Amino acid sequence: MGPIGIFDSGIGGLTVARAASDLLPNESILYFGDTAHLPYGEKSPELIRKYSTRIALHLLNSGCKAIVVACNSASSNALEQVREAVGENIPVIDMVHPVVESLYVSDAVPSLGCKKVGLIGTRATISSELYKRAIESLNNAANGTVELFSRATPLLASAIEEGFYNDTIPGQVLEAYLEDGYFNEVDSIILGCTHYPLVSEEVKDLLPKSVAVINSPKIVALALKKVLSERGLLLGKSSQLETSNKFQVSDLTENFRLGAERFFGGNISLDEVDLTL
Ligand code: DGL
Repeated sequence: MGPIGIFDSGIGGLTVARAASDLLPNESILYFGDTAHLPYGEKSPELIRKYSTRIALHLLNSGCKAIVVACNSASSNALEQVREAVGENIPVIDMVHPVVESLYVSDAVPSLGCKKVGLIGTRATISSELYKRAIESLNNAANGTVELFSRATPLLASAIEEGFYNDTIPGQVLEAYLEDGYFNEVDSIILGCTHYPLVSEEVKDLLPKSVAVINSPKIVALALKKVLSERGLLLGKSSQLETSNKFQVSDLTENFRLGAERFFGGNISLDEVDLTL
């Protein structure tokens, strides 16, 4: 069976690849970071759809058995188009729906009364309103009372992609976006961009201690495992003795190589693949 295809605009989706690899150590991963076109968060929905479907078809043609859209901006704007492009036989897992569903079933947020959930993400993610629509539809279906407070934090992903984490810059950027106390009443917060887990400590520092940070990469990895198992695509312990993870980018720079190793952990080999050819 083929690898699991995972893609993002750049480095951020590696937080999801890491969680998937930890949860499913027998599986191989083919990762694609569209570094030539990031940030997706500032692109139009049309362009995000064009890039995302092109990558999904590349992953499909490379033999992937499932695709994880490890980018909130792409999940929010191009999910339908990606699903259509790869067809029904290939499961497509996005960043939004598994996380929203977890609000209704897990201990991610306190279960009594109205759940007030914060969301930060790119401009493309927040303005698509997919999180809002997914919550409204589950509120209706499950008689739920989840209330969403969302805000775009557009500078943050670029700062992280530039290597500004583990220093004071992300905290200052976040402070500029959050200093009006908009999130002070929430009980949990969704880091709605796959870059943000790298600065989760800075987010925590700026919010009241009681606010839980929802671990999206882990939730999405669990959703992936569930889908693979339901479709009979999950590899058992003995099925694959050696996994082989591959990492591809559309524009390979030294900066990206260093960041990718830090994000994923350990040495990784990166290849440049031009999908426009
Ligand atoms: N990591 C991507 C996301 O989850 C966005 C970063 C970008 O703007 O390219 O939305």
